[in-house]
Amino acid sequence: MVLKRVYLDNGATTAMSPEVLSAMSPFLTSHYGNPSSIHFMGEEASAGIRKARGQVASTLNCYPSEITFTSGGTESDNLAILGAMPGTGRKKFITTEIEHSAVLETCPELVRLGFEVVRIGVDRDGLLIMDDLAEAMGPDVGIVSVMAANNVIGTIQDIRQAAEIAHEHGALFHTDAVQAYGKMNLDVKADGIDLLSASGHKIHGPKGVGFLYHRSGIRISPLMVGGGQEAGLRSSTENVPGIVGLGAAAESAVSSMSRDVPSMTKIRDRIIRETLSIEGAYLNGSRDRRICNNAHFGFKGVNGKDLVLRLSDEGIAASAESACSAGSSEPSHVLTAIGRTPQEAMSALRITTSKYTTEEDAEALLEVLPGIIGSLRA
Ligand SMILES: Cc1ncc(COP(=O)(O)O)c(C=O)c1O
Repeated sequence: MVLKRVYLDNGATTAMSPEVLSAMSPFLTSHYGNPSSIHFMGEEASAGIRKARGQVASTLNCYPSEITFTSGGTESDNLAILGAMPGTGRKKFITTEIEHSAVLETCPELVRLGFEVVRIGVDRDGLLIMDDLAEAMGPDVGIVSVMAANNVIGTIQDIRQAAEIAHEHGALFHTDAVQAYGKMNLDVKADGIDLLSASGHKIHGPKGVGFLYHRSGIRISPLMVGGGQEAGLRSSTENVPGIVGLGAAAESAVSSMSRDVPSMTKIRDRIIRETLSIEGAYLNGSRDRRICNNAHFGFKGVNGKDLVLRLSDEGIAASAESACSAGSSEPSHVLTAIGRTPQEAMSALRITTSKYTTEEDAEALLEVLPGIIGSLRA
């Protein structure tokens, strides 16, 4: 018997959508010119990039020139923080305890470069403690970085309020929107965002491509130097098919958000409701301020990794906390930051849906979950 494949790990990555693949296809086959070439094939490739830059800019209410394509969310976070911090002329960087490692791992690097780093805590729901942020602020703060939605527990931060606090002290505001982009309305002007990171493969686009929005006028030093592509901010021949795919994915995600978000929310809510009826199950993260596709649980007396492997045996792909830390045997820093004990933090199941997730997928999970948990406890 061939097992049905049920994919519930969309926080790790998503399936590429057919419209993205067809937008990319010419750039993987006939339109293979180098965008820096001055002949017609170079122009064909640079037209593809121009279109994608416009598509991305229109999803955020910014100018195309404020978008720099990168190799993904990690590079965008690095460029935003390590690239922009020196130009602020200030010495302190503030972020939260629950950021993705793409942000957190810039901290030791900043310290090595002579900057000071402050990490602000969160409450039991994973919400940033705004009073602590306000207290840590001062004229020496260059950048405040607060993720829009958490990759483990899905908590949505009040980035507008965090940006306001940053701006009151003349600091720049960066948000890692890798999990939020395409699932939440983001308007860089209305939200007060100076720098925003996003990634293609979380929005049904290709892997290995992302972008950084940077408000015009912000001084950024490139992390990579060479041929001067991307207005000198990101040297290396552009990943043209990837960029074209990202543009198509961005346009599609944002334009179908009003249809996809309610349907993802409905399926997520059913998963949360029915899973919480299992004895000893609890939800991690906020019940209300939660990204539409995330459900994150703990189960008393059950190891998360064992659970994920048993689900996998049933043809269900889920995750223990997030793909980036899946190989680790340490408890998630996000779960310990919201007050879970290390033991509780080792019992974690992250279910992340997408616009392609169906009620049948949810049923397949809910049908086997109580039995697996029971047998793991036994
Ligand atoms: C919140 C967040 N930031 C950054 C990243 C890194 O993105 P990428 O895989 O495109 O480098 C991820 C990926 O899981 C993420 O969830």
